[in-house]
Amino acid sequence: MHSVMDGVEVTALLDELTTPAGREDPYPRYERLRAISPVVRAGDGALVVTRHADCTTVVRDPRLGQLPPDALAKAGYPDWAEHPALRLLFTSLLMLNPPDHTRLRRLVSGTFTARRVEALRPAITRMVNDLLDGMSGAADFVTAFAFPLPVNVIGELLGVPLADRARFQTLVRDWTQVLESLNPGALRRADAAATTIRDYLAHLAADRRREPGTDLLSALVAQQASHQLSEDELLTTAALLFAAGFETTTNLLANSLLALLRNPGQLRLLREQPDLARPAVEELLRFDSPVQIVSRITTAPVELGGLTVPAGEHVVAYLGAGNRDPGRFTDPHRLDLGREDNAPLSFGGGSHYCLGAPLARLEAQLALPALLRRFPRLSLSGEPQRRDSLSIRGFTRLPVAAS
Ligand code: HEM
Repeated sequence: MHSVMDGVEVTALLDELTTPAGREDPYPRYERLRAISPVVRAGDGALVVTRHADCTTVVRDPRLGQLPPDALAKAGYPDWAEHPALRLLFTSLLMLNPPDHTRLRRLVSGTFTARRVEALRPAITRMVNDLLDGMSGAADFVTAFAFPLPVNVIGELLGVPLADRARFQTLVRDWTQVLESLNPGALRRADAAATTIRDYLAHLAADRRREPGTDLLSALVAQQASHQLSEDELLTTAALLFAAGFETTTNLLANSLLALLRNPGQLRLLREQPDLARPAVEELLRFDSPVQIVSRITTAPVELGGLTVPAGEHVVAYLGAGNRDPGRFTDPHRLDLGREDNAPLSFGGGSHYCLGAPLARLEAQLALPALLRRFPRLSLSGEPQRRDSLSIRGFTRLPVAAS
């Protein structure tokens, strides 16, 4: 492992990604990193890969696992289990390894079926139209549409009552900040948010135990009653599904709208040809992914970027970079809604492949053409405000004039 590049330029580029300019446009920085070497070493020792093929290996190859919680201990958090935010995330399906992951994933996929998702089509169409009815004039697209649509869809599916959903926008944003950095202030807020989320879901699960419904939480409660999953697993799964169910989809809708507004020719195409929705959403996922980064640890030697990476290395796949790899995509920085043979990395891959991908796709495929048809003169009306994060990419505000 002598030819992994590190040094001043790599460190400077990785640091730049955390600045406002880097957040605004990480893509040229990704490209420069890839040009230095397909595998570079970050200041904290992690190996960063930026090619599409290597990112694919990182998410698919079983020789790479999720970071075990003791990685947190090594990162200076030996008491991670005492932090509700770290506990709720690091013991959830997302972070588990086999055999627990295999067992829990099978249980959850059994309740979160393609049929259940497809059955939501009429309800999602109704929600889209209702939200568009309320949106005309000056609006913040995030507050008026991109947040309420997915939070209501996943709320409906999971069985979180309508009146309770709105407060989760801030709670989940605070909780998921632990994916970014663990500074003491952010961790305190994340812990408070995670405690509120967990307590809320525990009460809701108790309600369903007394009075089961047809929602997903009731299905999970039934699995717990038959000892297929523990109370902890029930709560971490419900929290993960709820959070992942809207946070990322909110960002997909907002990132997509901005990409379209900046590419008026492509916007017009989607407005005129709603049948393009399917490939368009794949391209929008590729073009500006709501999830930019996933981390793994090697459990055996693996080839990455022509190098043999030994076991025990922390590897970070820059999915957003792989999505713009010229080795995989022709003219990767061009938004081309009709792009053929697309393969966005945005939902990950392998055993942790996003469980909600069919739902996120359906929401975006229904929402974006309807939005463009409803407002023929939709435009940006102010400065978008980015979420201050590296792995989750999205906006807290996207001001638009809808007419
Ligand atoms: C555009 C929207 C979305 C994006 C970009 C996205 C992205 C991802 C990615 C990259 C992963 C894998 C992480 C890893 O490998 O470490 C993942 C996993 C997951 N996602 Fe999504 N997601 C989206 C929407 C959703 C929705 C709507 C739901 C639920 C309703 C959901 C639920 C999950 C769950 C439960 C996992 C963990 C699966 C496992 O570890 O086995 N996601 N998502």
